[in-house]
Amino acid sequence: MFSGAGMSAESGISTFRDSDGLWEKHNIYEVATPEAWKANQQLVLEFYNQRRKQLLEVSPNEAHKTLVELEANFNVEVITQNIDDLHERAGSSQVLHLHGELRKSRSSVNPNLIYKIEGWELKEGDMCEENSQLRPHVVWFGEEVPMMLEAEKVVEACDLLLVIGTSLNVYPAANLLYHVQKNTPIWVIDPNTMDLKSFPNSRHIQKKAEEGMQEVLAKLMQS
Ligand code: OAD
Repeated sequence: MFSGAGMSAESGISTFRDSDGLWEKHNIYEVATPEAWKANQQLVLEFYNQRRKQLLEVSPNEAHKTLVELEANFNVEVITQNIDDLHERAGSSQVLHLHGELRKSRSSVNPNLIYKIEGWELKEGDMCEENSQLRPHVVWFGEEVPMMLEAEKVVEACDLLLVIGTSLNVYPAANLLYHVQKNTPIWVIDPNTMDLKSFPNSRHIQKKAEEGMQEVLAKLMQS
């Protein structure tokens, strides 16, 4: 399963590119790039602090929970572009975060030093054990996606790829769909129109995540 921001929309978290999405209100280059971090740490920290604060106020939705129900009968591996922890809080047992994790920080000089953030705030002056500033443990535009190879392996081995709530606009993540085996079906849940011409084995379930997941659950339980 490959999820994007639409997976968490019904929990009350804004997507990025829908009207009223996060990238309508914030400039990507001022809050989500290494250059932004160099130019204004305070602004970058505040952007992610606000996301984290909101995350602590919301809960997994029925789509996250239905996915967990499927674990009773299937080996469900979650690959998510989301930095929230709603898949884990719903109970998913295998979650790979392609774009990092909002509730973690990491050293700005040693990427192996990763910490859990207590509460919602990461501040200037919060240091790693090697005495350098902590940054959000997220992937910014222009940075590598270290989990990509691992994600590709999961997709190459799957029998069905479920794609939920992603505009497939951000690379390399969106390339994952090209890694399914030739005859492996791809089911895409998204309420908007999608251009899936490149994927002859795809089926578009044009619904929001919660309702779409009900349909998927029913179909998989029949088979
Ligand atoms: P987008 O905001 O680009 O796309 C969200 C998708 O969710 C759209 O296709 C919507 O139609 C769909 N959607 C909206 N409401 C939905 C609902 N209730 N149920 C299901 N789908 C719904 O978000 P992503 O594709 O996740 O990266 O964006 C990818 C990356 O761009 C993010 O991980 C983030 C962002 O910039 C970084 O910050 C590196």
